[in-house]
Amino acid sequence: MNNSRIIISLDYANVEPVLELVGQLDPQKCRVKVGKELFTRAGPALIEKLVSKNFDVFLDLKFHDIPNTVARACSAAADLGVWMLNVHASGGRAMLHSAREAIDKSSHQPWLIAVTVLTSLSAQDLNELGIASSVDEQVGRLARLTQANGLDGIVCSAQEVSFVRRQMGSDFKLVTPGIRPAGSAGDDQKRIMTPAEAITSGSDYLVIGRPITQAKEPMQALLDIEAEIEAV
Ligand code: C5P
Repeated sequence: MNNSRIIISLDYANVEPVLELVGQLDPQKCRVKVGKELFTRAGPALIEKLVSKNFDVFLDLKFHDIPNTVARACSAAADLGVWMLNVHASGGRAMLHSAREAIDKSSHQPWLIAVTVLTSLSAQDLNELGIASSVDEQVGRLARLTQANGLDGIVCSAQEVSFVRRQMGSDFKLVTPGIRPAGSAGDDQKRIMTPAEAITSGSDYLVIGRPITQAKEPMQALLDIEAEIEAV
């Protein structure tokens, strides 16, 4: 069984480097994330290929549309055999409810999580969108709406993990990007946490890209991070 808390972000523009990387990874010791760029270029065929290689796939397409459209997109993702997928919590109650129903009706039932406030948005950006709350208040509000509609968890920044964990209890899955092993390059990430810090703060799954994908030996980088997590 796969107990890994590490989700490797496959931020590539085409299939070849993805297959080269996953060929070096043990699917029982990690999971993988496919986002908008790779999915738009490589499509469902790549997802099916990864699933056939026994990888747990997080399809990170952040669906946000009218309830019927999101429900149908969620069913389509479930049919691909993905392990987890996500929607935008700001799509509202009816949309979240429809997404939940669609997954419940699917023969394969991936975990369904939501994005609350994009970490690229500041309080000023929210204000411009007509939201007077602070970023943390809005994250909390959307996390509660997500949970009330039966979704399994949210994506949240490492900085948000501890207060979200306190508010949401232990069953709610928290998936956290912005992770950098001690001593590695921050790249363009501004507020980072180490894997150990994020797990200690209450994160369930860590989304990690370049520290593994750009490593000389990706599998070794993965094992090193795993060991760091196990030590806490
Ligand atoms: O290479 P790196 O570890 O920075 O990759 C992190 C991944 O998580 C990227 O796919 C990035 O788009 C995604 N992500 C993030 N911060 C967020 C949301 C998603 O880094 N707040």
